[in-house]
Amino acid sequence: MRLFIAAELDDPVRREVGRLAERLAREVEPRGGRAVSWVTPRNMHLTLRFLGEVDAASASAVAGCLSRPLAVPAFRLATAGVGAFPPSGPPRVIWLGFSSGVDELAALHGEIEARLAEIGCPREDRPFRAHLTLGRVKGAAGPHLRSILSSLPKPAVVECVVGHVTLFESQLSPRGPTYTALARSDLVRDPS
Ligand code: 2AM
Repeated sequence: MRLFIAAELDDPVRREVGRLAERLAREVEPRGGRAVSWVTPRNMHLTLRFLGEVDAASASAVAGCLSRPLAVPAFRLATAGVGAFPPSGPPRVIWLGFSSGVDELAALHGEIEARLAEIGCPREDRPFRAHLTLGRVKGAAGPHLRSILSSLPKPAVVECVVGHVTLFESQLSPRGPTYTALARSDLVRDPS
């Protein structure tokens, strides 16, 4: 099974970010950005760790890793501007960044890595970059996509609280991925 661990966004936030992605699509598509596959609001999440294909025994070991609360207090996330991966050349992924919650997301990623290392999972060899994927570029998106993105007005800030992380199974199909939550781990509640 194909697994990943993510922070979920609540429904109103997904709807709001979905409206932002629609506005972005309306800006980008007439200018050569028709090759972008936009993430549907239902599937929006913040990937903390992609595990890829694992067998059932490893999947239950990963779920076991998340069975005790993560030692990061629940925190507020606030969105910022739109960007793209990779940082130069033709964009492959269009994302929304954060102005608040970035350090906490990095701390969560670090704690998840440490727990996975305990069960023999090698650490990711690329640095963690907190982002919310809005669209993935399929094929040639037009040479100007990067400059179109940087010319767009800064989107309105969307906020939510991250209170847990979720282990998801991803099933791929020609109609798009289906994500199923397998386990959840609460963050430590702030006593104040
Ligand atoms: P993304 O949000 O950064 O695009 C489920 O497929 C999630 O796992 C995706 O949202 C994606 O994160 C991440 N993912 C998928 N394939 C991946 C890969 N080959 N390497 C790293 N992360 C991947």
